[in-house]
Amino acid sequence: MTAKIIDGKEFAARVRAKVAQHVSRLKQDHGIIPGLAVVLVGEDPASQVYVRSKGKMTVEVGMKSVEHRLDVETSEADLLALLDQLNNDPEIHGILVQLPLPKHLNEDLIINSISPAKDVDGFHISNVGLLGTGQKSMVPCTPLGCLMMLRDHHGSISGMDAVVIGRSNIVGKPMAQLLLNDSATVTIAHSRTKDLADVVRRADIVVAAVGRPEMVPGDWIKEGATVIDVGINRLDAPEKGEGKTRLVGDVHFASCAERAGAITPVPGGVGPMTIACLLANTVTACCRANGLAEPEGLTA
Ligand code: GUN
Repeated sequence: MTAKIIDGKEFAARVRAKVAQHVSRLKQDHGIIPGLAVVLVGEDPASQVYVRSKGKMTVEVGMKSVEHRLDVETSEADLLALLDQLNNDPEIHGILVQLPLPKHLNEDLIINSISPAKDVDGFHISNVGLLGTGQKSMVPCTPLGCLMMLRDHHGSISGMDAVVIGRSNIVGKPMAQLLLNDSATVTIAHSRTKDLADVVRRADIVVAAVGRPEMVPGDWIKEGATVIDVGINRLDAPEKGEGKTRLVGDVHFASCAERAGAITPVPGGVGPMTIACLLANTVTACCRANGLAEPEGLTA
């Protein structure tokens, strides 16, 4: 079988168009402009790229974008004071603190100081608990994007065998929870899993989120399975010229594509969905804050 390529770039553009349409309606009918605040502490180059991209796309869909770039030495007290100010700002509906934070800042404390209703990352302990009990919550962006693509491809994933490789709080755990809430039979595999190959071979759905380049080979994939590759790993590519690099996922794309029924590429798969889902979460948070109907198809 040769897999259908799930085009995340195109899918994300459709999600953003839906968000933009809803933002326009909020403005016209209610005079409300959804606002997203992004907080970046320090100058991590990858984080700077993400934050710039988030800001640009927020404005493109018609929302208000606020960026707070803080010095790497910012104290916990100062960061908490900023979050308090944003929590109480009626023009801000979504708050995102870019991770990782510098070591001297307590990440759990910071995340749990964001108002759960404005926690568009879905990392606050209240949102984690709500998701875990199947209640309405803010859902982490990357897993939400994966779920949207799976629902779009399969219609329903009820009863399917799903394996999530990776148990991070940002992707693996919430992904497993979302699959479970959609009635899949879910296995969470990780670095201590015995016979990972055997576990993956039984799966109708494989979500790889470990951060290890091309670790899933094609012969682990059940014929016709759907493969969602969350990994973004940069490898040296001397064949492209000196100092050149290339991006690869956590699955070996060419061999997995020969057996899978559908697969997301890297780049152009899950990646573009993350920011699209952040924008979707912001518009959802704005609607909830104002007691208005949420956009359909943009939440879990
Ligand atoms: N760093 C890497 N991924 C993420 C994410 O989804 N949200 C935040 N806040 N930081 C990140």
